[in-house]
Amino acid sequence: MKTRFNFPTRILFGQGVIEDVAEHLLILETSRPLVVTDRGLMATDIPERLVNILRVNGLEPSTFYKVDPNPTDEQVEAGTAAFREHEADAIVALGGGSPLDAAKAIQIRINHGEPLEEYDDLKGGDSKILGDLPPLAAIPTTAGTGSEVSRSAVITVAAADRKVVLFSPRLMPAVAVCDPELTYGLPARITAETGMDALSHNIEAYLAAGYHPMADGIALRAIRMIAQNLPTAFEKPKDEKARQEMLMASTMGAVAFQKGLGVIHSLAHPLSTVTGMSHGLANSIMMPVALRFNGIEIPERVAMVAHALGTKDTSVEGAANTVTALAESVGLPTALSEAGVKEEQIEVLSEKAMQDGCHTCNARECTLEDMSDLFKEAI
Ligand SMILES: NC(=O)c1ccc[n+]([C@@H]2O[C@H](COP(=O)([O-])OP(=O)(O)OC[C@H]3O[C@@H](n4cnc5c(N)ncnc54)[C@H](O)[C@@H]3O)[C@@H](O)[C@H]2O)c1
Ligand SMILES: [Fe+2]
Repeated sequence: MKTRFNFPTRILFGQGVIEDVAEHLLILETSRPLVVTDRGLMATDIPERLVNILRVNGLEPSTFYKVDPNPTDEQVEAGTAAFREHEADAIVALGGGSPLDAAKAIQIRINHGEPLEEYDDLKGGDSKILGDLPPLAAIPTTAGTGSEVSRSAVITVAAADRKVVLFSPRLMPAVAVCDPELTYGLPARITAETGMDALSHNIEAYLAAGYHPMADGIALRAIRMIAQNLPTAFEKPKDEKARQEMLMASTMGAVAFQKGLGVIHSLAHPLSTVTGMSHGLANSIMMPVALRFNGIEIPERVAMVAHALGTKDTSVEGAANTVTALAESVGLPTALSEAGVKEEQIEVLSEKAMQDGCHTCNARECTLEDMSDLFKEAI
């Protein structure tokens, strides 16, 4: 048996660590960062606070904020132009997975000339991501994707008409600045959806095929942390401990999914591109049916998930029902029809789910018919 893994990201974690980002940009010998954020964040005081921190420390930042949830290649091109115009030498990504991923794609485009879809991991594009990319400091403001420590970026590419995963160890941020206080102002619905995304990463990583006991251990611990803290973070947005545990668990999720993801993400990606559903909600709705699907192949591992979730019923059903109950406790719909998906969309959703690369790591092989059955079960 041979396997390869690495966990090398420098992580600054705790209340107020946003203050330390400038110091790390200076260590990286950079002085003109492009702050990449989004419109939603611009409505808060966080970008201005960040820019002030950078300026006070002698850096000369510029801000690019034209990124939407589920970012597109067009937005990446606009960000790349903003980087060049500012003559930037580093990127500070501030926000949820969308600006963090957009920033990673901008990193690639700075010194790679081909259209973004040429770097699609599914087509072996990782081997084309070469050389030194501009350094990236990543500051998450949601507790969901863990993009601040992950090697991937998910961008909707118009030419491919789907979400493309860009993947390379070079995309791992130089520093992850994880300040739980930045998540206190998250709207309750986004807390719920992104928290369920973090749960899906840990569950998928634990269930993924392959040998990686280190990732497995991290995933099980984070599943427990999310089950214990997501309802509190949802109900009491300024609860210090709940926000801290959720942010740590989401970062742990992305460390764990170095092992791989699975069918949940392959089902979720087309739900965002075809129906516009948020990434977290899509994962949340598809998780219970995917647990039952995988439970046929690996019942003992699904039982371990149930145990980590803290339920007494440590069966496959216990795991699936506990995830549904957790989603309900944070006010999320648990059926696709409740989220506006129509029966007639299942065919195209299933085809796109098959084209998605995540299910290749799933413990149970997935066919087109399985994808269709899973969507039907969740409708
Ligand atoms: N790179 C990875 O490893 C990875 C993993 C999973 C998902 N993703 C991708 O990440 C994206 C989703 O990211 P996300 O779930 O973090 O959501 P997001 O970045 O799309 O943000 C959702 C909304 O929350 C707002 N927001 C974020 N932080 C806020 C705050 N502190 N206060 C107020 N509003 C705030 C944003 O403005 C936005 O409107 C998807 O495109 C998904 O495919 C990437
Ligand atoms: Fe995800």
